[in-house]
Amino acid sequence: MASHSGSPVYSRITGTGSYLPPERLTNADLAARLAAAGVETSDEWIVERTGIHARHFAAPDVSCSDLALEAAKNALQSAGLQASSIDLIILATSTPDMVFPSSACILQNKLGIAGCPAFDIQAVCSGFVYALTVADAMIKAGTATKALVIGAEVFSRILDFSDRTTCVLFGDGAGAVVLEASSTPGILATDLHADGKHVGILCVPGHVSGGKVIGDALLKMDGQAVFKLAVGVLESSARATLAKANMTDADIDWLIPHQANIRIMQSTAKKLKLPLEKLIVTVDQHGNTSAASIPLALDASVRSGKIKKGDTLMLEGVGGGFTWGAVLLTY
Ligand code: ACO
Repeated sequence: MASHSGSPVYSRITGTGSYLPPERLTNADLAARLAAAGVETSDEWIVERTGIHARHFAAPDVSCSDLALEAAKNALQSAGLQASSIDLIILATSTPDMVFPSSACILQNKLGIAGCPAFDIQAVCSGFVYALTVADAMIKAGTATKALVIGAEVFSRILDFSDRTTCVLFGDGAGAVVLEASSTPGILATDLHADGKHVGILCVPGHVSGGKVIGDALLKMDGQAVFKLAVGVLESSARATLAKANMTDADIDWLIPHQANIRIMQSTAKKLKLPLEKLIVTVDQHGNTSAASIPLALDASVRSGKIKKGDTLMLEGVGGGFTWGAVLLTY
């Protein structure tokens, strides 16, 4: 463990926040909108296959950094901090405001601060666990003491609304935490992985060149291939993280997996021999908000009083790349 001025340095979450854009679409609302464009789906199909009942979509003039700003302000308030005390900003997103600069820099300016390092992390739905792991390492290395770690997405911008196999699954939103240096843990163990050979099963295969989008700027997914990979890696990553902390499944108070599909989440809980009461579920109300899903679920559960100080949390991400990983922490 890193040590500065004699005492061990850990990182600890001291505040959480989140934000959902006001437009909420139930499955019936979405089905009606799609039907008008000749695309058929139903509340029954979506609920049975995914557990999703509703999602939020941002207004056309609202960007990733706008959602991130509201979540960050809520997290700062819950930590009792002013933005001026933040010395690191890491924003996980796959739907940034611009090609560059990073949405983290745009957020920093919207927060009215300057000078601290600010950068985006792109690991799709694993983005938040990647960002939290990097912030933890920077705090333990002594290069930051008060970090804002955010997941924010406007996935509605990259959905193909003529493809019913994907457009019913995703939503927009943002979640944030303040991670501070602490003499007590905090983050107990982390575990990150990627395997780039799976690029093709979940991607937005476009890029900007010569002033145009080359390729396709909308999301493509092989749902069944993603499903199979996700279930396997979520179990292995949780086990690897527990082993690093010399802990077992029985030590987990709350499992907060990436909120993609209730069937993937329940299957992970079962493999870890956790009762379903220990599984935090917000996918029913948020849909899949990619990098925002874990901090959104965390904040909702802290604010509802479900998660309490001292609880042991297992956060798990999995997404395009393929990327996956976990963070085990004492809240
Ligand atoms: N409404 C009605 N019918 C539909 C819809 C829809 N929205 N979508 C597909 N169907 C139909 C299909 O056309 C198919 O019909 P057919 O049998 O006549 O051909 C039938 O439903 C079954 O389709 P499947 O694709 O086999 O359905 P499946 O049970 O695999 O569920 C799903 C699809 C929900 C996408 C599932 O595979 C899944 O959840 N996969 C994981 C996806 C995921 O988690 N993605 C996020 C990863 S994280 C990230 O990085 C973004």
